[in-house]
Amino acid sequence: AMIMARHISTLTATVAQWRAEGLSIGLVPTMGALHEGHLTLVEAALARCDRVIASIFVNPIQFDNPDDLAQYPQTADEDAERLRDAGAHALFMPDATVMYPAGFATTVHVKGVSGELCGAFRPGHFDGVATVVTKLLLISRADRAFFGEKDFQQLQIIRRVVADLNIPVDIVGCPIKRESDMLAMSSRNRRLSPEARHTAARLPALMRAAVESFRQGDNESSTRLRAALGAEGFNPVEYATFRQEANLAPALDASTPCRLFVAAWLDGVRLIDNMPVA
Ligand code: PAJ
Repeated sequence: AMIMARHISTLTATVAQWRAEGLSIGLVPTMGALHEGHLTLVEAALARCDRVIASIFVNPIQFDNPDDLAQYPQTADEDAERLRDAGAHALFMPDATVMYPAGFATTVHVKGVSGELCGAFRPGHFDGVATVVTKLLLISRADRAFFGEKDFQQLQIIRRVVADLNIPVDIVGCPIKRESDMLAMSSRNRRLSPEARHTAARLPALMRAAVESFRQGDNESSTRLRAALGAEGFNPVEYATFRQEANLAPALDASTPCRLFVAAWLDGVRLIDNMPVA
């Protein structure tokens, strides 16, 4: 039976008992609307931890756009069932007032990297992410926490927070789970019309070609990718850029570990993806 915790005290009591028994604890933070990508994080956590806590919290402070928050799919019953089937031991599903009671006034802000890429287009977004993830890590006292490379910038920001604030947790990055046509799984994909869903598969295909040409020394690769995406109907293309993995600074060549990062809109839906230059 999966423990359902809507209050912090319920979760901390469960965690205290597990820790007293010497069990290791893994945390998988999510905003619900779960798909197979999220479930790969639960599987990774189960493989490495004795007990796994999943959290579902649509964190209001990380939404820069009120419509996006209002439209965010809420599928709690289905999500709980999927997590139970996957083998999660506890589900933490707090209300906003539990996480942000009256008087809440603290923000976790990571300088520099929070303003790049998605941060440049979604003001305040990564402050909201860093703040809620810090709370979730401290509430759960997890030994390890699992995040997808789908949101690679988020993953690097969380690594920075944990190092800077000495939070005793291992952050584990997990590979991007893709559909059979290579589109990265996302809760937002279900908002695409059938036609746009078909076009969406051009994003990973064009990215793959761009990675290949960059690897061969083409320094116009990202410029060409941007134009190719525009021609397919992606509008606007917010960014299409090669960055170093460690600090997300621009990558001029493939001499350091780097990735291609893209954010682009299609059919009113914002898609993001990234790929390593292996
Ligand atoms: P959410 O978008 O629900 O994603 C939860 C986790 O699932 C994140 O770590 C994300 O990177 C991962 N994920 C999403 N799609 C994936 C895919 N196709 N393959 C692998 N992993 C994938 O990211 C958030 O929620 C929030 O910002 C959160 C960290 C929970 C803080 O509110």
